[in-house]
Amino acid sequence: MTKRKIAVLVLAAGEGKRMKSARAKAMHPLAGRPMIAHVMASVARLKPDRVVAVIGRGMDDVARVVRMHATSRDGHPHPVVVQHPRLGTAHAVRAAKKALAGFAGAVLVLYGDTPLVRAATLRAMLKALRAPARPDRGATFNARGDSPARPAVVVLGFRPADPAAYGRLVVGPDGNLERIVETRDASPAERAIPLCNAGAMAFDGAGLFGLLAGIKNDNAKREYYLTDAVAAARRLGRACAVVEADEAEVMGVNSRAELARAERAVQQELRARALARGATLRDPETVWFSFDTRLGRDVTVGPNVVFGPGVRVGDEVEIRGFCHIEGATIARGAVVGPFARLRPGARIGPNAHVGNFVEIKNAVLGSGAKANHLAYIGDARVGAKANIGAGTITCNYDGVAKHFTDIGAGAFIGSNAALVAPVKIGARAIIGAGSVIAKNVGADALAFARAKQREVKGWAARRRRAAKGNKKKMR
Ligand code: UD1
Ligand code: CA
Repeated sequence: MTKRKIAVLVLAAGEGKRMKSARAKAMHPLAGRPMIAHVMASVARLKPDRVVAVIGRGMDDVARVVRMHATSRDGHPHPVVVQHPRLGTAHAVRAAKKALAGFAGAVLVLYGDTPLVRAATLRAMLKALRAPARPDRGATFNARGDSPARPAVVVLGFRPADPAAYGRLVVGPDGNLERIVETRDASPAERAIPLCNAGAMAFDGAGLFGLLAGIKNDNAKREYYLTDAVAAARRLGRACAVVEADEAEVMGVNSRAELARAERAVQQELRARALARGATLRDPETVWFSFDTRLGRDVTVGPNVVFGPGVRVGDEVEIRGFCHIEGATIARGAVVGPFARLRPGARIGPNAHVGNFVEIKNAVLGSGAKANHLAYIGDARVGAKANIGAGTITCNYDGVAKHFTDIGAGAFIGSNAALVAPVKIGARAIIGAGSVIAKNVGADALAFARAKQREVKGWAARRRRAAKGNKKKMR
């Protein structure tokens, strides 16, 4: 048997009213990237033959993210369909009919607000679509390969702690999924059903639009519900099956509270993964990862560290507490923090040290270089083993443009130096503390630029005496 083709529809046209936001719901981020990007990444792992995203009018940012993840096997961008007006999930699928023209494989419909669903779970759904729904009964197949026992629809189900607003899966006495009822339309008995609709459905593509054709909007929301496809399939005598997943994976995000809950779930997973791969997290619950954070072996991360997108950490790095790190690379054996901030383009060399209240942006810190306290290093190169004193500032911005500071290997920058870029400090040069350096300094030179020190003998004592005299007079 040849492998069955797979098409994936991602529904993301909903306004997300409950988010109370100016942005599209699908653009709200989890672990450093928009929800829709999470969905698209899982979809890509299935290597589908077609992917169609259904978005709302004016959701250009959503379309952009979809396209970013949109390399179909033949290299064409995936189609993005605009659904307008929005009349429900079945209506959204119908909007993609043209984009699916001529397709007769399995169609997986995913919701853009169920961002954490895993590729493995989706694969299990596709497998269930090929298998007899009731293996105990065996299956009989006709010439097309259809079987009354082979499901026309496979629904992803779960048992949430609080079924709240999820659709309930009504399963008949023979174990067949009979229909899905939305909470608003459910009877008290139906509301008591613990098994809910996670919001992913797999269809036999050949029959999909036939099932949708009969769906009406005679329900509480006056919408065309995709979930009604189950009852439609049952009316045709076709089986419908359920694949179950964990709540943490399939919780829907409709509000800020649910977004926060999903963030917690994804963070738990990322923490567990970091630990499993050989990192020490001193207090895992307080470390915040990005979807793409990469930690080497024997990395130690202290409490309250936040990783933004694009961070790579080499083996044996120590990141102490309260660091904020984004778009940065940290090489083997480096020590960062506590209280360090690494911004995009920071590249910390092997065994380098970045201490408290040091900010590094778009700068390379060479092997074994040190910036241990209170410094700003931006748009710069710091050579190997150079030492950046406390309070050093690279003055990279003149109000118009950014300029580069080049600090040679082994240079010693005294405390509270302002290096006015563009400027070059030669290898092994020494900069006197408190200097404002606006001209290049040669290798092995000493440069300082500060007012000469004066000392006035006895001045302090005289001033104190004068002050006392004044106080007596005032009494
Ligand atoms: C939906 C399901 C419910 C399930 C829940 C899981 C239906 C009718 N209900 O409810 O059974 O338990 O998800 O989270 O499907 N969308 C469009 N166009 C539309 C309407 C919605 O593209 O016209 C998209 C939304 O952007 C969203 C998804 O479809 O990504 C689901 O829509 P939403 O309104 O959030 O449905 P729920 O009420 O959460
Ligand atoms: Ca939803």
